[in-house]
Amino acid sequence: MTQPSIPAIAFEALIKELQERPLAENRYRISAGIGRSQAFGIVNRRSLPADYSRQCWLRPKLYKLLLDFAAQYVKIPWTSITVNQNYQAAKHRDKGNVGDSFLVAFGSYTGGELELLEGDLEGKYNIQHTPLVLDFSKTYHQVLPFQGERYSLVFYTIKNIPEGIPPCSIKEEDGKYVFYRGSEPMSAKRKKKPETNQEMTFSRTTGSIWVRFD
Ligand SMILES: [Fe+2]
Repeated sequence: MTQPSIPAIAFEALIKELQERPLAENRYRISAGIGRSQAFGIVNRRSLPADYSRQCWLRPKLYKLLLDFAAQYVKIPWTSITVNQNYQAAKHRDKGNVGDSFLVAFGSYTGGELELLEGDLEGKYNIQHTPLVLDFSKTYHQVLPFQGERYSLVFYTIKNIPEGIPPCSIKEEDGKYVFYRGSEPMSAKRKKKPETNQEMTFSRTTGSIWVRFD
């Protein structure tokens, strides 16, 4: 169902943050469309139980802006947020989520309607600032071609959330945002590039794993 329109000002801080620091390309989603797309909140992780996405602590400022936006405008329960940046999703039904999702697009673009390809609501929807709440796991949908800068947010609930994931928070410390998983601050640990470390000798195994030899 189409929701009331959201004022443009609600998206300004998100646009500024995404322009200053675009999303990383998500190499796992290449087959599902073109562009940049990352998930925040609780996500399914390959071979591990679902938990907070690394994006939450890699981009704590962006995650805080998403939480602030949700607190004001997203009236459905959700566990997870996908942020798309110039991402043209090919025809698909969502997988791994349950119930209604909240979808809204913003930015300076033309075209880019969301097309629902089946069901009672079949048709093209201009979702720029005008959210759509729908169970996208039951309806084939796609993004039509667009020109300009198109962003979208999807708030949804994933299946099979394990017990015991503590609540998260984002605190401002010394002018920087820090993501806390419960009481534990999370930060991106920088890996040293083996190639530039003269002290050690490295050898690449057939499994593409760096092994250290002293
Ligand atoms: Fe989708």
